[in-house]
Amino acid sequence: MCGIVGVVGNDNTTKILLNGLEKLEYRGYDSAGIYVNNEKGKDFLVKEVGKISQLEKEVGPEVQGEMGIGHTRWATHGQPTVENAHPHYSQDNRFYLVHNGVLTNYAELKEKYLSDFKFVSQTDTEVAVQLVDYFATKENMDAEAAFRKALSLLEGSYAFAMVDKEQPDRIFVAKNKSPLLIGLGDGFNVICSDAMAMLESTHKFVEIHDGEVVILKKDNVSITTLDGKAVQRDPYTVNLDASDISKGTYANYMLKEIDEQPATMRKISSHYFDGKDIKVDQKMLKDVSEADRLYIVAAGTSYNAALVGKDIFENLADVPVDVELASEFGYHMPKLSQKPFFIFLSQSGETADSRQVLVRVNELGYHSLTMTNVPNSTLSREATYTMELLAGPEIAVASTKAYTANIAVEAVLAKAMGEYKGVQLAKDFDLQGQLSLAANAIQTIVDEKDRFEKIAHDYLAGKKDAFYIGRGIDYALSLEASLKLKEISYIHAEGFAAGELKHGTISLIEKGVPVFAYVNDGIGAAHTRGNIQEVEARGGHVLVISSKKYAQEGDQVVLPSIDEMISPIVSVVPAQLIAYYAALERGNDVDKPRNLAKSVTVE
Ligand code: G6P
Repeated sequence: MCGIVGVVGNDNTTKILLNGLEKLEYRGYDSAGIYVNNEKGKDFLVKEVGKISQLEKEVGPEVQGEMGIGHTRWATHGQPTVENAHPHYSQDNRFYLVHNGVLTNYAELKEKYLSDFKFVSQTDTEVAVQLVDYFATKENMDAEAAFRKALSLLEGSYAFAMVDKEQPDRIFVAKNKSPLLIGLGDGFNVICSDAMAMLESTHKFVEIHDGEVVILKKDNVSITTLDGKAVQRDPYTVNLDASDISKGTYANYMLKEIDEQPATMRKISSHYFDGKDIKVDQKMLKDVSEADRLYIVAAGTSYNAALVGKDIFENLADVPVDVELASEFGYHMPKLSQKPFFIFLSQSGETADSRQVLVRVNELGYHSLTMTNVPNSTLSREATYTMELLAGPEIAVASTKAYTANIAVEAVLAKAMGEYKGVQLAKDFDLQGQLSLAANAIQTIVDEKDRFEKIAHDYLAGKKDAFYIGRGIDYALSLEASLKLKEISYIHAEGFAAGELKHGTISLIEKGVPVFAYVNDGIGAAHTRGNIQEVEARGGHVLVISSKKYAQEGDQVVLPSIDEMISPIVSVVPAQLIAYYAALERGNDVDKPRNLAKSVTVE
């Protein structure tokens, strides 16, 4: 969601900006733009609605310079139009600014300071750049002082990069809540919302914290707090290769990422195990094991992974678990237990909804753990502990390998807690063995892609609605399965507790409505079979996905059995493939579905 790039001190600025924006495409956006300034005193502003490839067509060969800023916009205030695309500029064309976030008091500031300023967009961002101009022109401040003054008044979330045409040797940068990083190049410097955008320029990055102001020059980076105190911060190295984020021979990222799941399972197993022993931070283990209740906070697919985790923690670690939607929990916090411990699940580590809960949790003095695929992300830095998902960069907006990795890493922690606490299990649970079974099982499913392509066609071609049903662990799974389908195929899909269907929703079942029924949950299996009968009796077009252990003759998809507790690691894969092929058949952009963003940095 909204991506920022900036370069100062490089002759290839235009190329670096466009390349960086392309790498940020995965975050989700609807328009984009760049501003480039060159030593001959010329500057260029190019903005376009739609894809970066459209923007590239608009950028002529004359657009060259040594510094510039760029942006992908995911519309919040005002429609996706060229006027609303960033960079925005002050009415005298002196200041150019890109912004990621939402300014909550922009209307008040506009009314108070800018009633005689000429605006060209409907965005909150334009108020910020005009406000800087106001302090520079009306109160005679230099650019830095005007920028700082504006920051002191602006409320909400932001990552800003601003250029003053009168000082084209520097970029003014600041952030509050929204992500932004400094990248250190050789003879030049960059900024970006995500290190992935600049891996071709550098692997050395420096964090920017909330409330800091950065002046980025080609040979110098100054970081200060809003009240002017100097900050020293060492760079860190991002050990990713530009090739890690390429599609390779795949037509799109989603299929590649689905296929990477067996390798991810093996990686998690080898990283978190030393022989038979689990390797996790012992201080964290003690801390989390002393909790009387776990609160798992997440959004979207990560929330669905948390629902699976609840069972795993309650079984293996013998601790009660609440699973909370981040967007709700922060503002409606229930009465907490005596010794709560918070676990944040976030693929990106940047989700604003989750972050606002973490800020609150930190204020309350509770300890927390972030499970994330992105080390050094905001949620990772700000939580007490981090566990990495190790899934490798996930670029497709619809999350696949991060979901399965999340469940596996939850199981690692739960198992470690159980051992630490001496929990007696009714039957042995060999997690390492299970992860290996899961890897093999996923491989057999992804090796049969044609089958799922045919299922997607036979069940979903021309359909408007679909249901996934199941009980227990299969209910949690159904929520993720249906989310995948909605996200990329735009078919209205619901995940339902199989037994709940008859209490209202069954009225929607009529001839030909596709219903995907999961039967992996031993306790619920017999009853789910009954619910399948009820659906079929009303004309529903049922596809049964069962595990070998509970399969019956006639089940269309039979999966290799693994321990039920972590079975969604395997049973979600058919749903990922069905969603993928349904979306492909409809001609949708599988990796970048409409309206969605990979990293949702606004609340
Ligand atoms: C967005 C993405 C989802 C993701 C959710 C939570 O909505 O489109 O795929 O599940 O954010 O993201 P997180 O990075 O916190 O897991």
